[in-house]
Amino acid sequence: MNPQPYVAPTIRRVSQASANPQRLGRAPVMEAIDGVAVTRLLETHGSPLFVFSESQLREKIRAARAAFESVYPHVTFAWSYKTNYLNAICRVFHQEGSMAEVVSGFEYEKARINGVAGSRIIFNGPWKTPGALRRAVAEGALIQVDNRDEILALARLAEERNGPIEVGIRVHVDTGTHAVWSKFGFNADDGEALRMMAWVKAHTRLIIRGIHCHVGTFMLDAGAYAIAAKALVELAMAAEAAGAGPVEYLDLGGGFASHARLHGQYLPPEQATPGFKDYAQAICGTIKQHWPAGRKLPHLYLETGRALVDEAGYLVSSVVAVKQRRMHDAKAVFAAYGKGGTTPAAALGAYGKGDVANGQGVNRRNAVVLDAGIHILYTTAWYQPSIYPAAMTTAGVQPTTVYGCLCMNIDVIREEAPLPDLKAGDAVVMHPVGAYNITQSMQFIAYRPAVVMIDPERRVHLIRRRETLEDVQGPEVVPEHLAHSNNAPAASGRHES
Ligand SMILES: Cc1ncc(COP(=O)(O)O)c(C=O)c1O
Repeated sequence: MNPQPYVAPTIRRVSQASANPQRLGRAPVMEAIDGVAVTRLLETHGSPLFVFSESQLREKIRAARAAFESVYPHVTFAWSYKTNYLNAICRVFHQEGSMAEVVSGFEYEKARINGVAGSRIIFNGPWKTPGALRRAVAEGALIQVDNRDEILALARLAEERNGPIEVGIRVHVDTGTHAVWSKFGFNADDGEALRMMAWVKAHTRLIIRGIHCHVGTFMLDAGAYAIAAKALVELAMAAEAAGAGPVEYLDLGGGFASHARLHGQYLPPEQATPGFKDYAQAICGTIKQHWPAGRKLPHLYLETGRALVDEAGYLVSSVVAVKQRRMHDAKAVFAAYGKGGTTPAAALGAYGKGDVANGQGVNRRNAVVLDAGIHILYTTAWYQPSIYPAAMTTAGVQPTTVYGCLCMNIDVIREEAPLPDLKAGDAVVMHPVGAYNITQSMQFIAYRPAVVMIDPERRVHLIRRRETLEDVQGPEVVPEHLAHSNNAPAASGRHES
């Protein structure tokens, strides 16, 4: 028998274009946001531009509240400031009855400026400055302690005030669904949290009123909350048995997934993302099941962030350049390897010099450069926003690499988005981008864009103007010896001879 030679397997990616040679797919288009034409938004406010829908913010928080209030008697949402702390956004949530959840003195100040009373602020986070802690205590905020040093600082404050301070304690729980966020709080699984609660009761004037656990973010498995809720109820009961109760509230943190799509996520968000009702059932059903019968149920706090704001946020951007991107064709590289290259790298080199130069086996992909980049779309590290042309087109779609405007090779917004042929000047809309991008955007190379909000009557409000040179270099100081720039042009011109 003549044995067949071994041929190493190769995996070849099937692109949408090759699966669809007639390019029959049509691009879904977004010509308007909440009834306001994208072209009008750009004419008035320039490009790029973040756009928020007030109606969608209100719809989301109402839907979330309805889902929980229909199955649980006492529940309060606290708007998670870090998700998006533009004042206009926060005020929509506060108008809808949400408290504020903050994680720093800066966010605390913002909440107070937004008219939130100290007693309506939940103060979380691993580092609270002495000043911020003192203010939060004086104003009656709900402080959730993260660590032993913070307990000691609060205990000293209680002595100084000669009175008790009510607090919550943050814990972490292994839900078996993802890496445990063990950076925060005390371990509820191995007895650490219970020992700490008993110690606080015995040695300080702090009164622990509640237990807090933020299991993680973008939790696609609602079951994680059922495990966490059960652990919190068990800890509350154990604390009571140890004389460290009563626990009056449970805070299940944030983490509900928005309709963003993770890199590599197979199912579309409409199928993969649990609804508020699923989360409500997991949390409230579990608490009701395990809380002692006949006892008043604990108050439930939720610190939902991204699921309330992500879909309400859009980024409108303009194409500034169109390119053709040369892709490595694995098959051609393999063929070059077969022609005598000794290593894959050498074969790649031969392929580059030979076949590509002849135009054989060349695989090209459309690419566009936008006037927005990953410095304002931080979340593209994890999620792939949908990208829609802002004008009707009859052209079919093909895989298109969407580059940002930064002078950085990593500035890729989408490696492969289905888009029609675009040209410089065309506008596109990216969605959903409302969570974390505004707060985590960085000033890098380009100014950060303006942000507008469309109200339910379709009026467009500027809620943050575009950044200017003064905003960026305002805090800079030039030392005296550098005050006079010594950069006069050389007599011979730009280049010294
Ligand atoms: C303590 C706490 N609460 C709430 C949130 C909001 O989470 P999300 O935006 O995933 O709902 C976070 C975010 O990490 C958090 O750390």
